[in-house]
Amino acid sequence: MLRDYPTSEQPSGTAGDRPAAARPDFSAAAFGHLFPAPLMIFVWPDGAELNEELGTRILEHAERTPGLRKSNAGGWHSEVGRLEFCGDAGQRLVRHMFEMGDEATRRTIAELPSPPRMSRWEFRWILHAWVNVNGPGDFNRYHTHAGSTWSGCYYVDTGAPTDADGTELHFYDPCQGRANTFLQPMVPATHVVRPKPGMMVLFPSYMPHMVVPHQGARPRISIAFNLRKDPFP
Ligand SMILES: [Fe+2]
Repeated sequence: MLRDYPTSEQPSGTAGDRPAAARPDFSAAAFGHLFPAPLMIFVWPDGAELNEELGTRILEHAERTPGLRKSNAGGWHSEVGRLEFCGDAGQRLVRHMFEMGDEATRRTIAELPSPPRMSRWEFRWILHAWVNVNGPGDFNRYHTHAGSTWSGCYYVDTGAPTDADGTELHFYDPCQGRANTFLQPMVPATHVVRPKPGMMVLFPSYMPHMVVPHQGARPRISIAFNLRKDPFP
């Protein structure tokens, strides 16, 4: 049975913060996290080489084509495809997207609290990728990527941000119940990633995110993508 501590035993506001000697021995307790959300961040070793070609090709393409309007407020959003206008570097980056999706999937399954019953899986990825070029004041609204499994972002140029923190990518807890009620403010409901050139960030497509307004000497160039498991979901 659970019971309240008598008021006299309860130090004010420090329920989880008693000295170890004053706590029962919980070393045999089972404790873990149910339904965690994966996040993978990796700086590709060939990023500098890729970014040289990607940057040139993207800016040339942005000059010639009008761009789309999606989550971007301002900025240029390319057509959605497999980076056909990015030459060899684009095709190498596409390969990296599949490699990262495979690795994140392997780790997600390997780290589940109880091993799944199936010993192997048969599916393929369907990739959709596009480029965002954000100039001064441009940003990407709060959104998720519907109809996909993993979503990711790769940084070609962080745009020489004037803000010391860079032009950050903000993630929000996809579980609104937790974000609104659970141990706030100790359990954070947001997470911030500071981009670096060559960095790839991969997250579940249901995880809400946004990009703050860019302020920098150059345009901020990033490549976003969706990997959709086929058969879906
Ligand atoms: Fe996005």
